[in-house]
Amino acid sequence: MALIPYDDRDGHIWMNGKLMPWRDCKVHFMTHALHYGGAVFEGVRCYNGQIFKINEHSQRLIDGCKIMDIKFDYTVEQVNQACIEAVRANNITDGYLRPLVWRGAEQIGVGATEAKTHFAVAAWDWPQYYKGDLLEKGIKVCTSKWRRPAPDTAPVHAKASGLYMICTISKHAAEKLGCNDALMLDYRGHVAELTSANLFMVKDGALHTPTPDCFLNGITRQTVIELAHQLGIPMHVRTIMPDEIKTADEFFATGTAAEITPIGQIDDTFYKVGPVTRKIREAYSALVRGGVVEKVA
Ligand SMILES: Cc1ncc(COP(=O)(O)O)c(C=O)c1O
Repeated sequence: MALIPYDDRDGHIWMNGKLMPWRDCKVHFMTHALHYGGAVFEGVRCYNGQIFKINEHSQRLIDGCKIMDIKFDYTVEQVNQACIEAVRANNITDGYLRPLVWRGAEQIGVGATEAKTHFAVAAWDWPQYYKGDLLEKGIKVCTSKWRRPAPDTAPVHAKASGLYMICTISKHAAEKLGCNDALMLDYRGHVAELTSANLFMVKDGALHTPTPDCFLNGITRQTVIELAHQLGIPMHVRTIMPDEIKTADEFFATGTAAEITPIGQIDDTFYKVGPVTRKIREAYSALVRGGVVEKVA
């Protein structure tokens, strides 16, 4: 299927308070965010026309701006409203939303106190990140040479654009090796996450996931922890060392885009898509399509 560039599509983007034709949503070359990484974003999904965990995503966007010292005076309800308008304007039933806040072009240089804040939301049809066979066999992952930074080295709890530079180069390196994604350790050498998803390991019927002290505590991750409790699956949030990877029974990744993605291989160790992964995947799909969600209509 031919790739449709993201700047050449039909539809409308909600930008700074109004719906604009998709192709007209341009930013200037001197935009501060483009030069210095001053941007915070969200990835949100919509199922059956309803936005899943909209309040949590809007709150994380606001919190991320605060961490990044970006002036952003929208309330959760106002961010929600922008998302709802973007979904409605593009007639999205099952899709993905990309809210983004960024520093404008009033000032160039490291300081940005004079730069105005911009906010836009795009929404488009994007049913599944990984498809078919990959979801049956699990994706292939290899360990990156890049590590998640310490919390006093980068704003690790904001979904800030700049943090993704090591994710993109890790993903490219993994793809060159024939893998789908990269596993990232943290600055201490502990197991952390993938390039845009959190990680869960199954061992003897129990779930284990790393403590999110230097990476995003994903909304899907938090949902899976709640589901594990509801399903009576023992759940351990703890430090995971790389030598434990080989001894695990199952692995899966979680994220708004990735949803529940089984992992079939990490470096030279293979895993089956086992019963715990399947149970969590089924429970997650039932929840997003019928559980506690915010109504768009
Ligand atoms: C680096 C990173 N970690 C984890 C996640 C998972 O977060 P969530 O479940 O909130 O989408 C994402 C995706 O947003 C991500 O980009």
